[in-house]
Amino acid sequence: MKLSNPFDNRNIIGYVQEVSSYETKIHFPDSRKLNRFFHHGDSFHWGIVWTYIVIEWETKWFVGKIIKVSLPEKERKELSQDSYKNIEFHPVWHVELLFAFDLLTFEPEKSINNFPPVGTKVYVTNSEFYIALLNNLENDASINDKLNIGEDLDTGEAISLSANKIFQRHCAIVGTTWGGKSYTVSKIIEELVKKEWAKIILLDPTGEFSWLGEEEYSEIYTFNSPKPEDNIAFSYENFEFDDLCAFFRPAWQAQLPMLEESLKVLSLIQELKNGYNGHTHSDPLYDGFLFEKKNKINPIFNKIISENEFDLSKIEINYLPHQLQFSCVKTGIWSFWIEDSWMLQNVQSLIYRVRGFLHDINAKTIFNLSRDASINCITEKIKWFLNVASTKRLLKINLSHVPEDKKMREILVNALWRKLLNLAKEGMFIKKPLIIFIDEAHLFLNKVIKDEYSIEVELNSFERIAKECRKYGLYLCISTQRPRDIPEGILSQMGTFIVHRLINDWDKQAIENASSNYNESFLNFLPSLWKGEALIMWVEFLTTIFLKIQETTYPPASNSPELFK
Ligand SMILES: Nc1ncnc2c1ncn2[C@@H]1O[C@H](COP(=O)(O)OP(=O)(O)OP(=O)(O)O)[C@@H](O)[C@H]1O
Ligand SMILES: [Mg+2]
Repeated sequence: MKLSNPFDNRNIIGYVQEVSSYETKIHFPDSRKLNRFFHHGDSFHWGIVWTYIVIEWETKWFVGKIIKVSLPEKERKELSQDSYKNIEFHPVWHVELLFAFDLLTFEPEKSINNFPPVGTKVYVTNSEFYIALLNNLENDASINDKLNIGEDLDTGEAISLSANKIFQRHCAIVGTTWGGKSYTVSKIIEELVKKEWAKIILLDPTGEFSWLGEEEYSEIYTFNSPKPEDNIAFSYENFEFDDLCAFFRPAWQAQLPMLEESLKVLSLIQELKNGYNGHTHSDPLYDGFLFEKKNKINPIFNKIISENEFDLSKIEINYLPHQLQFSCVKTGIWSFWIEDSWMLQNVQSLIYRVRGFLHDINAKTIFNLSRDASINCITEKIKWFLNVASTKRLLKINLSHVPEDKKMREILVNALWRKLLNLAKEGMFIKKPLIIFIDEAHLFLNKVIKDEYSIEVELNSFERIAKECRKYGLYLCISTQRPRDIPEGILSQMGTFIVHRLINDWDKQAIENASSNYNESFLNFLPSLWKGEALIMWVEFLTTIFLKIQETTYPPASNSPELFK
């Protein structure tokens, strides 16, 4: 859209009368001139709340929006619809300055620190100009990264926003339930896949984005799926020690070292077998998979265990409870190990928890505990999606069949993020960025696993991605109805907020705190937004836009069943 010059004398709305850091007051000399008018085919209206204005001062343009109109106290008594048109009133416009930019460099300023002085002329303009201005200020016209996601709420004028600007410092889509968050996620993804600009992973906790998985550019995987063809697992071999601790919750002193030792024993069973040649029992089961310490001496055991890390890919996890039991020994006569019943008692609760996990029907499938080679592993599929599948742009991961109990979802997702974090650090997304979308993000963030006696395990991969991964080309887009439940460390990393209807004061407060450039008066409009309407705010860029998000071609299945039919 071409940018027309707004500084025509016919557009003068008045003069700056009072300036403060949060509000600029503009005085209009004569109310009788306040009518809608047309200029070069564009429509302008003076004196209406939400009209845009422009102020030129020295080498800067200030762009603002009228947020309140009032009359001086003494003129209010004479006011009627007719008198306003016929008698000279002197209305005052209260304006919130949205942003300023330098006319020479055309660079927007991150904050307004110089204000126009009293007496400066103020020109009325319309939202078309404002949108054109924003589009002109977009970073680099040569990059085809504009997403057509909606229309300006006032004018219906289409707005295209730069994907770079939306995602370069991560993005959060927030709003109360039914505000339109999932639709917005779907719309943004729909636009992004057209661009071939980035790869996208969508984490779908409710399974509502089913349509997004059925196009030729997309791939869909479901954990614990009833349909074998799209079933996927996160093979336990990809876990790290912390993940196992999150599932097994070992107590700090008595159980944690035993868990670590037993995992090492299972992992180093060949080395131990060789080292103990001649000293072992001949029981084939124990010698094949387990190491019974009882009745053995300790000449090389400590050396093998302390010099090696465990490798889960070598471990037959189903033997872990048995190995824990076999590891409960103390040194007896002639330095032979003998069973330690006190230790066994201490480790018993850990053994129960490990057994509980290994026998859990969902865990068996989700983490492929039986190492069934016919089940695909998500980490391999992700690597294939990123490296090989050039026509695929969207990978959708459906978590709706992963049970919420035992923190299975959270631990799984945390382990998955860790994998992506490591891939990012290997430089995999530098050339082609990856954007991760997470609907209902509050379900996964801010989690600490701990019970009365166990060690504390923090599920912090996501926070680490938010803080560390932008420079590696890994970006986040979280959607949540409870911004207050998102850890401050993550929320403060968000550079773009797409805010749908928001009522709760705590949630508004969380957004206010996270976005340093918020406009208080705009946040006051949030409760009155309708479905699909949103306010977009950028932390780096002092402006806001009210948008009606275009309806997506792939609506999520978010409708509740009808109560009465
Ligand atoms: N951009 C839009 N245009 C038109 N209608 C919309 C738009 N966005 C959402 N809606 C309507 O609002 C309803 C709720 O939208 P959506 O499921 O996206 O809300 P949500 O904020 O994700 O809710 P929840 O928090 O319950 O997941 C949709 O069923 C749809 O009818
Ligand atoms: Mg939703």
